[in-house]
Amino acid sequence: FAFTPANLEWAKGQMTKYPEGRQASAIIPLLFRAQEQEGWLTKPAIEYVADLLGMAYIRALEVATFYFMFQLQPVGRVAHIQICGTTSCLICGAEELIRVCKEKIAPQPHMLSADGRFSWEEVECLGACANAPMAQIGKDYYEDLTAETLAALIDRFSAGEVPRPGPQAGRFSSEPAGGAT
Ligand code: FES
Repeated sequence: FAFTPANLEWAKGQMTKYPEGRQASAIIPLLFRAQEQEGWLTKPAIEYVADLLGMAYIRALEVATFYFMFQLQPVGRVAHIQICGTTSCLICGAEELIRVCKEKIAPQPHMLSADGRFSWEEVECLGACANAPMAQIGKDYYEDLTAETLAALIDRFSAGEVPRPGPQAGRFSSEPAGGAT
């Protein structure tokens, strides 16, 4: 693994934000960029970032395994769906969302769908509890979900659409006038 020239340039810019000798502080954005470049965070990518920052591989691995924003195995090419399974979402129907993922994507979390286009996992609270249950798909939050609206979202992603993020039941959170449709 190696960063593309553009990503390497960007990474060096990140590293200059920190005092000399503290370049390891840039670990999270660099790992995230490596993940964006590869689709998931491979061992060679973690090693590369650790080398770039002058830190031990094990320390970079500690960071990569701590946050569920980092995917340490392949994810669906079209979408990776992270279902919040913490209290508010659990009470409001997260288990139904997980059932949909099992039926439409794969029976187990972190498994790829048969066509390799989708994957899913259950994660801890994503901080959108007021609009539970919710899921993060790619980088976006989809909230106020039901089994039906999640299934429809998966179908729309599958058809090449990028559905509008936010509440999916016409409810407003911090959105300006207009709201979700
Ligand atoms: Fe699901 Fe907080 S409990 S977003």
